[in-house]
Amino acid sequence: MSRPEIRVRALHKSFGADEVLRGIDLEVGRGEVVCVIGPSGSGKSTLLRCVNLLEEPTRGQVFVGDAELTDPDVDIDAVRRRIGMVFQQFNLFPHLTVAENLTLPQRRVLRRDKAEAARVAARNLARVGLSEKADAYPAALSGGQQQRVAIARALAMGPEVMLFDEPTSALDPELVGDVLAVMRMLADEGMTMMVVTHEMTFAREVADRVVFMDGGVIVEDGTPDQVIGAPRHARTRHFLSRLLDPATAAVRKEPPDRVGHGD
Ligand SMILES: Nc1ncnc2c1ncn2[C@@H]1O[C@H](COP(=O)(O)OP(=O)(O)O)[C@@H](O)[C@H]1O
Ligand SMILES: [Mg+2]
Repeated sequence: MSRPEIRVRALHKSFGADEVLRGIDLEVGRGEVVCVIGPSGSGKSTLLRCVNLLEEPTRGQVFVGDAELTDPDVDIDAVRRRIGMVFQQFNLFPHLTVAENLTLPQRRVLRRDKAEAARVAARNLARVGLSEKADAYPAALSGGQQQRVAIARALAMGPEVMLFDEPTSALDPELVGDVLAVMRMLADEGMTMMVVTHEMTFAREVADRVVFMDGGVIVEDGTPDQVIGAPRHARTRHFLSRLLDPATAAVRKEPPDRVGHGD
């Protein structure tokens, strides 16, 4: 592996008495794509949120580049600027146009002037194929387009790593492909990425490594061919079989991760 861009060491996170992460060790090399898979409630989102300190770890260390995020003296805002995050729910500002959604954080956080923020916004909208939507409001866009705007907004901040938390789970199936295509492009360009996803085809084709989590620990960590193609652990096999067989998935006990789109 190249020099690790993300390093997680002996990471623990509890909510009250509930120990959600129980000792996570993980490295993501520069330019590497790591897909994180696992059942609902296994701690995938909490892990991502600890990597940009949206959650404060209870114990352990997180490094991004050469900065330790868990060092009490770290300039957390400076480090966080190097980390882009994309959520299942796109979190765009509904009262701002697409272009304004991209320029506002650049101006507020990076103090870019208007012209430069607009230039960077236009360049990143073009990267996700949405130049023609610059003046539209989010409500006028499909879910897939909104998610591509959210990715462009993160890219406009010039991040060194990108974290994706189930970026396609809220989308109608026919809109998933366009979002995955943008993520594939980023991977090809050498972006360092951690992607929580249930898209096994994407994981197989794009990930350098797949990490299977269950119960707050990493059960398996290897190439997609190893972890998805020839899982060594019964828990991994059980998870994958439920994912691939809707009949057994329908009777699973946990509530589904996926939110409906009938709101
Ligand atoms: N802010 C929170 N407060 C209390 N419990 C939480 C919080 N966030 C997550 N949890 C709990 O942590 C566990 C793991 O959640 P999460 O990381 O979201 O799992 P996953 O993303 O794998 O579905 C779940 O039991 C969840 O209820
Ligand atoms: Mg989650």
